[in-house]
Amino acid sequence: MTARSLSGIQPSGRLHLGNYFGAIRQHIAKQDDAFYFIANYHAQTTVFDAETLRRYTLETAASYLALGLDPERATLFRQSDVPQVTELMWLLTSVTGKGLLDRAVSYKDRVAQGVTPSLGLYMYPVLMAADILAYDSDIVPVGSDQVQHIEMCRDMAGSFNNRYGDTFKIPDYEIGTPVPVKGVDGRKMSKSYDNTIPIFDTAKALKKKVMSITTDSKGLDEPKDPDTCNVFDMYKLMASEEELETMAANYRRGGYGYGAAKKELLRLINETFGDATERYFALLNTPDDIEDALQKGAEKARAAATKVLNRARAASGL
Ligand code: TRP
Repeated sequence: MTARSLSGIQPSGRLHLGNYFGAIRQHIAKQDDAFYFIANYHAQTTVFDAETLRRYTLETAASYLALGLDPERATLFRQSDVPQVTELMWLLTSVTGKGLLDRAVSYKDRVAQGVTPSLGLYMYPVLMAADILAYDSDIVPVGSDQVQHIEMCRDMAGSFNNRYGDTFKIPDYEIGTPVPVKGVDGRKMSKSYDNTIPIFDTAKALKKKVMSITTDSKGLDEPKDPDTCNVFDMYKLMASEEELETMAANYRRGGYGYGAAKKELLRLINETFGDATERYFALLNTPDDIEDALQKGAEKARAAATKVLNRARAASGL
């Protein structure tokens, strides 16, 4: 039996190149027998408008499908289509010390950023633990910012198993090779900095974003340093060795302006994501197809979660 890998994606905005090179690409590369879900319960801690949440959820599903997630190979579903996880969350609360949640870095960060702390935000790690344990997951591929949450999940599963006997499989995490992606202003690409390049966009909007990438003010004729340039940095994410060498040589020689470099970057982004972009917009025009894929995934996910939930209910005296 292959190890089951599971990960959740928050539908909290439009997916951008940072998300793609940081996580989505790895998810899609390892999709056989994987469970991926759109964490819309979790997103309710930050997205407060119902229509917006529905739209982000659909767009996130369309993105994964357009980028090559095959619903025959992986199980793709909406978190809220498996309400079993919310009951499992309750069963975990009584084995979870309040002190454990008080130590959650993500919660403390949010509060430090001025977010009004809701109980939902506080309980975030317990819901996340339920997500993971509900499917007997072996491996959770996550970014390094989520490691503490997985440790907490292991903690909760261990406490439950101690109190009630062996019930949950203890998961491991896997941190992919982090690929730092810079935004148009040279800082880390992030929705909160408003410096992202969306994976899917209209040609016009994409061009505008690429042309807005910050560079130094060297003139056309001057030689330029590829290693300190934001345009070159982004080019590296997608370019072949040969393309990279050519661009680097152009920079160093001089007579090659940032405008030309940006046009070349734009060409490469279109080459990399053009077909997926067409699929993405076509899918959004046929939301029933997206829904079909999600429902198929939800059926499989519910079956798996029901088994685990029944085990946990019985073990704990319900
Ligand atoms: N907290 C995760 C993030 O923001 C999303 C998530 C929710 C998740 N539940 C999960 C990831 C379960 C892995 C496993 O990235």
